Amino acid sequence: MLIDTTAINQQRHCFDADAEIWIFGYGSLIWKADFPFLEKRSAYITGWERRFWQGSHDHRGTLEAPGRVVTLTPVPGAICHGMAYRITPETLAPLDHREKNGYLRELTPLFFTDNFTDNDSSTNEGDQTQGLVYLATDDNPAFLGPAPLDDMARQIAHASGPSGPNRDYLVNLAQALRHLNVDDAHIFALEQQLNRL
Ligand code: SIN
Repeated sequence: MLIDTTAINQQRHCFDADAEIWIFGYGSLIWKADFPFLEKRSAYITGWERRFWQGSHDHRGTLEAPGRVVTLTPVPGAICHGMAYRITPETLAPLDHREKNGYLRELTPLFFTDNFTDNDSSTNEGDQTQGLVYLATDDNPAFLGPAPLDDMARQIAHASGPSGPNRDYLVNLAQALRHLNVDDAHIFALEQQLNRL
């Protein structure tokens, strides 16, 4: 089901206009950073695993034939690797719009895994900070939940939406994770199943 969390997100975790915010991306935000950022660093958060359990009716599917995109599911002790971006508060507006189909801003500790920066204005703030993550919980109306691997791969193979084929989302995410040297059994198994079809 298509929903719109934009207005809710604008009321959550508000920041002063001159604040700088770290946002942690674990899905398309890793490989499609089409928003302005001051710095990016690979990072991880703890207690969550990435899963293709969120429906996409607005980007990688339609109302009639939703695609599947990633959200996070709580798993004690788990580590989820991704990419963190340092942004200014005005960048939250396009991000809220992009993540509007069920995702809510949450605050999380995040841990940097490298010293890589995109420009000279690195914050050098050490290995850990507090950041935002967009999380689609299992009670949101667009949540699809788990399904057999083959069913999920077939759904992803056939779905397409305004942002393009659902398949590209999975393939690009798997490629970005390989590039980060991240092993994610769920993502790579799904990619393999997609390639078998
Ligand atoms: C994220 O990438 O952090 C959120 C999910 C997505 O937009 O794919």
